[in-house]
Amino acid sequence: APDTVKQALFDHQALFEKYPPTGGYPELKEAIGNWIEKRYGVKLDPASQILPTNGSREALFALTQVLIDPTQDPVVVMPNPFYQIYEGAAKLAGAQPYFCPMTAETGFKPDYSSIPEDVLKRTQLLFVCSPNNPTGTVLSLEDWRKLFDLSDKHGFVIGSDECYSEIYFDEDN
Ligand SMILES: Cc1ncc(COP(=O)(O)O)c(C=O)c1O
Repeated sequence: APDTVKQALFDHQALFEKYPPTGGYPELKEAIGNWIEKRYGVKLDPASQILPTNGSREALFALTQVLIDPTQDPVVVMPNPFYQIYEGAAKLAGAQPYFCPMTAETGFKPDYSSIPEDVLKRTQLLFVCSPNNPTGTVLSLEDWRKLFDLSDKHGFVIGSDECYSEIYFDEDN
């Protein structure tokens, strides 16, 4: 497969001369939608629910600018250590970053129960990275359920950075 990808890139190199449409190519969005359905069993509408970006960093940054309402003293919660774009995006959107430590004591996962109530009340966006960079930790279904409950209770959006979703043990299965 890697050779096929390389060959396809080579055969279509002339297309690199121009920018894609801002909303992405419909055929690419369709292909992404098919992959998501095959991988996660979720059917999305490619036209309104999928937006191709130049790397996940662009998507993480843009999402933050769109979601944050800077007039409401907002907080963006992120794991620590973390990939820097979460912090930069939060600051540029006018939000205060809140770092949720991942240490040996917390099993290298963010311990959301340690976040003070007044911070949760102000939280508009919470970044999750699973599998995590740099700890490699993967959240369990139970972790996700707790997070969904927290998001429902406080009305924040979960920004799920899944750029490493295809790296896992036992890749043959
Ligand atoms: C956790 C995490 N998110 C996002 C990115 C951004 O990756 P890219 O913009 O290349 O997709 C990286 C890159 O190292 C990363 O480690």
